[in-house]
Amino acid sequence: MDSWEWNKIAGAVLGTLMFVLVIKFATEAVFEHATPAKPGYAVEVPVEQASTTPAAAPVAEAIPDWGTVLPKADAAAGKEISTRCEQCHDLSKGGPNKIGPNLWGVVGRARATHPGFEYSSAMAASHNPWTFDELFQFLKSPGSYVPGTKMSFAGLRSEQDRINLLAYLRTQSDNPVPIPAPKK
Ligand code: HEC
Repeated sequence: MDSWEWNKIAGAVLGTLMFVLVIKFATEAVFEHATPAKPGYAVEVPVEQASTTPAAAPVAEAIPDWGTVLPKADAAAGKEISTRCEQCHDLSKGGPNKIGPNLWGVVGRARATHPGFEYSSAMAASHNPWTFDELFQFLKSPGSYVPGTKMSFAGLRSEQDRINLLAYLRTQSDNPVPIPAPKK
């Protein structure tokens, strides 16, 4: 390469630098002018407008009154739903752990305590018993209720499906948890 070519390269580099600097000055100048002298005057939202469109806040799901819903639940339909759990769980007495722990007697069982199963640290962070309330919430969206769980199951959106399933799971036990008295 002769010096003429080097000059061309240096020229190109300098030209680019100049161009960048010019653009930088230009945009700074524009933004300087765009900034209002008194911030807050530029965007005026009428107060009524904000209040007439209430955000659709997610309504927290009410926990069923177990004493009322369980006696009316369809345990046979719940058994049908439980086949989806059987992909990963054995439900029978003395059955093996599969991808997930054996679920015999899971209603009322202390969380993350089934022998021989390696729970995630998220699940093992609590050993509170699996009450109807807890299972109802967990099975809606396992990953939201126990963030970090390795139960990769999307959840059962339908309340009635979960009620029916719990009515069935309750019976899969040596000692089914009693159905509480109705609250009203
Ligand atoms: C894709 C596999 C998979 C499916 C499907 C699945 N689970 Fe699980 N489940 C797991 C795994 C894995 C764990 C262990 C989670 C952990 O340690 O974080 C688990 C844990 C649980 C636990 C906690 C058990 C304990 O001993 O504390 C319950 C309860 C449970 N599953 C219920 C269900 C029910 C009911 C269904 C069906 C509606 C279901 N699972 C569907 C994989 C699955």
